[in-house]
Amino acid sequence: MATKNSVLQIIVTLLAIFLPVGKSIKFNYPAVFNFGDSNSDTGEMTAGRGWQLPLLYGQTYFKPPSSSGRFSDGRLLIDFLMNAMELPFLNAYLDSVGLPSFKKGCNFAAAGSTILPATATSICPFSFGIQVNQFLRFKARVLELLAKGKNFSKYLPTEDFFSKGLYMFDIGQNDIAGAFYSKTLDQILASIPTILAEFETGLKKLYDQGGRNFWIHNTGPLGCLTQNVAKFGTDPSKLDERGCVSSHNEATKLFNLQLHALTKKLQGQYADANVVYVDIFSIKYELISNYSRYGFEQPIMACCGYGGPPLNYDSQITCGQTKTLNGTSVTAKGCSDSTDYVSWDGIHYTEAANQFVSSKILTGKYSDPPFSDKMPFLLKLKF
Ligand SMILES: *[C@@H]1O[C@H](CO)[C@@H](O)[C@H](O)[C@H]1NC(C)=O
Ligand SMILES: *[C@@H]1O[C@H](CO)[C@@H](O)[C@H](O)[C@H]1NC(C)=O
Ligand SMILES: *[C@@H]1O[C@H](CO)[C@@H](O)[C@H](O)[C@H]1NC(C)=O
Repeated sequence: MATKNSVLQIIVTLLAIFLPVGKSIKFNYPAVFNFGDSNSDTGEMTAGRGWQLPLLYGQTYFKPPSSSGRFSDGRLLIDFLMNAMELPFLNAYLDSVGLPSFKKGCNFAAAGSTILPATATSICPFSFGIQVNQFLRFKARVLELLAKGKNFSKYLPTEDFFSKGLYMFDIGQNDIAGAFYSKTLDQILASIPTILAEFETGLKKLYDQGGRNFWIHNTGPLGCLTQNVAKFGTDPSKLDERGCVSSHNEATKLFNLQLHALTKKLQGQYADANVVYVDIFSIKYELISNYSRYGFEQPIMACCGYGGPPLNYDSQITCGQTKTLNGTSVTAKGCSDSTDYVSWDGIHYTEAANQFVSSKILTGKYSDPPFSDKMPFLLKLKF
């Protein structure tokens, strides 16, 4: 038996060497400009609002005492994608301490942000329109400083990076999820075109400023987030067969359908641009549906939280917080192995889940158009 297995192993190894399975993609972007919410915030809100995230955040990868400013136990999807593009992690636009370099791009994503303009009660003032304005100021300042001489060129992108760079978007989740606290499902569905009109306005500004490469991530299955299951899924009839809140996923699907239609429209309108739609929803829903196949044990329960199974989530005590409840001091702690969990803190994904999403995106099968050799941003695509 042992011999047979070894022979098999050798054959498998040889096949792996001579018939490359999977794709090897090599990207050709000099820089990335990212816009979004907490899914891709690399320190914007911690810098902008002076927040101190509990050290549990980032611990898997960014060792304390340095706070990563990221809403996960480790790296985010954007970090894995930057890695795949052979680019350094993106610095947050507002993070001024320690001379951050913006040579390879800049990240405007801010936790809690929405596409629609922020209101007086929004947690995050940096909605999409503001992020676009921040970019416009960033670009103008960069060009101004570059014109003054070479002093800053080590830290700043060169002018051509603005046309050759990748503009990445992952926003809209808070517009939909936040609306469920004050609106009916029908009202939310009816508001989607207004949200996307605002998004289109921002994209158009970036295109008019010379942006030509756009990656637009759709929104994940919000109904499967622990926070939403805890708040809106107490009645089992409101849950689907995966334990996710049906109404939230219905709203997300319609948002994504219309977002996809918008990207199709822009692909037609901007013939000299690359507009790619990336289906994050399908990747995340596949992970939550078939989690054990991918080595996970908990598709919905939060790793870091309070309350224990089935959700380990209590909106009063968020991950890392200690509070007195009913006269007792309690702490929302992390789990022993975050790689078993899809959800980190009930709202955001674990590093392990983010890595899974990134690996699926990089197959090129979840994008429209799918990755192909004809795409100018791909140097190499081997099958
Ligand atoms: C560039 O650096 C040199 C040396 O530090 C300094 O003398 C000069 O004033 C700087 N120029 C600008 C435009 O900041
Ligand atoms: C999960 O696995 C089942 C069984 O292999 C498959 O039918 C299904 O399409 C997979 N994905 C989702 C999202 O259910
Ligand atoms: C506090 O007491 C209330 C009411 O008795 C109860 O519903 C709740 O679960 C308790 N919370 C904790 C954290 O024990």
